[in-house]
Parts: sequence; C-alpha cells; structure tokens
Amino acid sequence: MTIKPLIILPDPVLRQVSTKVEQVNDDIRTLADDLLATMYDAPGIGLAAVQVGVPKRMLVIDLSKEGEDKRPQVFINPEILSFSDERSAYEEGCLSIPDYYAEVERPSKITLKHINLDGREETIEAAGLLSTCLQHEIDHLNGVLFIDHISRLKREMVIKKFTKAAKIRA
Ligand code: NI
Repeated sequence: MTIKPLIILPDPVLRQVSTKVEQVNDDIRTLADDLLATMYDAPGIGLAAVQVGVPKRMLVIDLSKEGEDKRPQVFINPEILSFSDERSAYEEGCLSIPDYYAEVERPSKITLKHINLDGREETIEAAGLLSTCLQHEIDHLNGVLFIDHISRLKREMVIKKFTKAAKIRA
C-alpha cells in the first residue's frame, strides 16, 4: 500500500476523461490498495483514481464512521443505469479541492452497475450518502468536479483562489 500524492485543482489532469479498466489484474488490485491508503491518510470518504493521476475508471469509498470497522468498497467501470426523480442536497467536499465545501443537489437514488475486485459484475441500488458519494466520484471519471454543480460565480472564485495558491507553490 502506497500513499500517493493527490492531484489538486486547477491541475488539468482532473479534467481528463478516464478510460475503462480492461482487466482486473494485480496492477488494478495494487491501485485499489493505494487508493484506499491515500483516502484513509487524507482522510476522505471517496477517491477516484484520476485524483492520484491515474485516469482509469475506478474509485474507492468508505462510509464507516470513526471508531467503526472500516468498510472499504471498490468500484471498477461504474455505470449509472438510472436516477430517481427525487433529489437530495449534501454539503460536499473533495480531496482535490481541500478545505472547500458547498451544498450540491443530486438525484437521491441511483441504480449502478460495476465490476468488483474479483472481476465480477454487480448491480446495486444506492441511496443517501452512498448515492451522493458515488455520483461525485463518477463525475471525476468524466472530468467533472463538484464545483461544476454550484453557481458560476462561486466556482470562478474557488478556481481563482486555487490557481493563486498553485502559483505560490510552484
Ligand atoms: Ni472529489
């Protein structure tokens, strides 16, 4: 397990569209371990592979609370089959946009197809925080960030702030 450096806004890598995982092999299993280690270290509840600079359609989630046993979940080539009409709002954050949070409204429930680490296809229903988290992470695989779902004014302010910070780091 290796903790990988996180890609931070406004790095253009975050806008890349990730490509399908062709085969669940040892490289992919190692990547899953690294993604989980990186997410736990941050700490965060979800992480897409592109956020460590690997544009493959893969993400990890763990919604266990502090003090509970860990519940790592790995989703490969996730595909949303249907969305509910009902919507819910959550305050979202992102490890690639540290210390910025904003409320985002998304469909409350989704049906999702994905491949698990054994290479088997699964279809699940997700609601609540899991549904929001999956939609947020799947957006990453398409080069979309949660700030794309907020007002343009707010988004431009965040991008400006992070662009300035990146210049200072450089
Ligand atoms: Ni994110």
